Amino acid sequence: MNRKEALNSIKANVENENLLKHMLATEAIMRALAKHFGEDEEEWGFTGLLHDIDMELTGGDMATHSKLGADLARELGASETMAHAILCHNKAHGIPLETKLDKALFCVDPLTGLIIAAALVRPDKKLAGLEAESVIKKFKEKSFAARVNRQQISQCSEIGLELDEFTELGLVAMKRIAADLGL
Ligand SMILES: [Fe+2]
Repeated sequence: MNRKEALNSIKANVENENLLKHMLATEAIMRALAKHFGEDEEEWGFTGLLHDIDMELTGGDMATHSKLGADLARELGASETMAHAILCHNKAHGIPLETKLDKALFCVDPLTGLIIAAALVRPDKKLAGLEAESVIKKFKEKSFAARVNRQQISQCSEIGLELDEFTELGLVAMKRIAADLGL
């Protein structure tokens, strides 16, 4: 797959800057996870990058979200494995998470939101000084960024990671692209 082509397609379908940043953050963490596990970094990265490409096209309708996205990803050259991960990251379809890639995308998705929210409450609103420990504190504070699905993040256990390790890995990956995230 060609990243430039994928990004162009995303930019043609996604207007919301925050959604774009969410997809870039997901890509960064998925790549870092692939590296950690010795999996295919390109495959995992592109899956993260593309996973919400249809969010605006489907108007956030959970009955169609990620079905269209999986099709769009296939058109961009995604494998069936990648398309499956995109498809089942939306639980509304009731498709079980099967592969490690499916499970990774599923728990990474809400982690980006928690980390961004934790950065935004800092005085400098930057990722640089944020520590994994603070993110975990925010994780335990249920009223903080209440829409972030903690249970889904906790499913990092299904890919063999403890919450602290998962958070640290995600935070480091997002710090690397802080400029792109405007954080
Ligand atoms: Fe997402």
